[in-house]
Amino acid sequence: MTANPRPQLSVDVLFADAAARIEASARALWPGLPVRLGAHLPSVTCYVQHVDVGGRALVAKVSYLGVSLVSLLRGVRGDWPTVRAAQAAYLTAPSALLEREATQLRLMGQTPGLDVASVAGLRGGVLFTDRVAGPTLADLLAAAPKHSAELLSSVVCTLRRLQSPALPRGATVPQTPERGVGPVFARKMRGAAGQLYLRQLGEERLPDDQVREQTRLLLGMAVERLMRLRKLPQPRCPALLHGDLKPEHLLFPHGPSARPVFLDPGLQYGSGCTDTAKLLSRTLLHLLAAPPAPGAGREIVEGIDAFVRDQVRGLVRAAVQDLWLRQLVTTWLMDTVNITSSYLSAPAALPLPAPAPGLLERTLAVGALVERGTALLDEQQPMRRLWPPFLESVQAAVRSGAGAER
Ligand SMILES: Nc1ncnc2c1ncn2[C@@H]1O[C@H](COP(=O)(O)OP(=O)(O)O)[C@@H](O)[C@H]1O
Ligand SMILES: [Mg+2]
Repeated sequence: MTANPRPQLSVDVLFADAAARIEASARALWPGLPVRLGAHLPSVTCYVQHVDVGGRALVAKVSYLGVSLVSLLRGVRGDWPTVRAAQAAYLTAPSALLEREATQLRLMGQTPGLDVASVAGLRGGVLFTDRVAGPTLADLLAAAPKHSAELLSSVVCTLRRLQSPALPRGATVPQTPERGVGPVFARKMRGAAGQLYLRQLGEERLPDDQVREQTRLLLGMAVERLMRLRKLPQPRCPALLHGDLKPEHLLFPHGPSARPVFLDPGLQYGSGCTDTAKLLSRTLLHLLAAPPAPGAGREIVEGIDAFVRDQVRGLVRAAVQDLWLRQLVTTWLMDTVNITSSYLSAPAALPLPAPAPGLLERTLAVGALVERGTALLDEQQPMRRLWPPFLESVQAAVRSGAGAER
């Protein structure tokens, strides 16, 4: 095992500091009102916690230096005193991550036809949003798998409102490059540091030697191919993306036929298929982590197939359709590798959100899927011919867990 020269930070120290920041910021924003901290919501990126201020249900969020908690705890930005000092400087900059997120939520909230969690306050590096209740997209898919294609389409249709001229005229949209699938992949996996990262995956999360080795091998093969395959032509007119579109960022407080409420945007310009790619990648990971009733998993994947084919049909030329599909699958697999490796490299003491706990028991299925998917992308064939075998490997991954409900 390679010695880790970096300082490991304590999860308890970090969490106590974040909770203290939330309490102090809430008291400063709403003087005189009672502040009660509630449940911690596990996240790999930020510290997130329920808070009740004078009877108003809020969610508070703290980001340290705009980097993920996984990186921070692994000592990527130095020891705790160094992080604290750097955080003080980071919070004075106008471009801090949560400052941009608050602006993005406000802009989206002013866009007709788009609903977001509204910003209740931003102070001392803590973002407060009003708590939204309701099932997530993953809950709705599991409850009504037959309607998967319609649900996915309605989400993507609603998001089209992000494209100008729907946004307020003259609005400058702050960007969130931190959340870009391609840039995250390159940052994590490039060069010797990337190789070392891959060799250490699962050290604290996969106790079985064989599973750990096999998972590293499969992810390593996928990474090597994706490094070559990821450089696809960029669109001449990039679209404005939600930037972090995943089932847990889509809540349906008014039921499946009403508009969803979007959480946690990471707005950025990019290829139109990127939001769809992340949405499908994460939807599948939820399916693998918590297999629904027998047959429902298959129906959801059939819904994904119908939804994707419908999107492709909306494009005019065969060459454009093919490129869109290639970009979709490449980005999908990159995102799957990104998030799976984040879970695998998280220190054991960091509580992880769904789908991580279930998914860490299925890393071989994830590894097999990204290995097979990238092997298909590597074949010199039009993507429309590769889509059916890719979908079949998605079905196989879902089937492999169907008998293993916990
Ligand atoms: N306003 C909100 N209403 C309801 N749930 C929320 C709200 N904000 C966050 N959450 C929950 O907390 C989780 C983490 O918060 P999020 O803003 O996504 O933070 P992160 O940037 O760490 O991903 C979300 O996935 C969601 O489940
Ligand atoms: Mg989030």
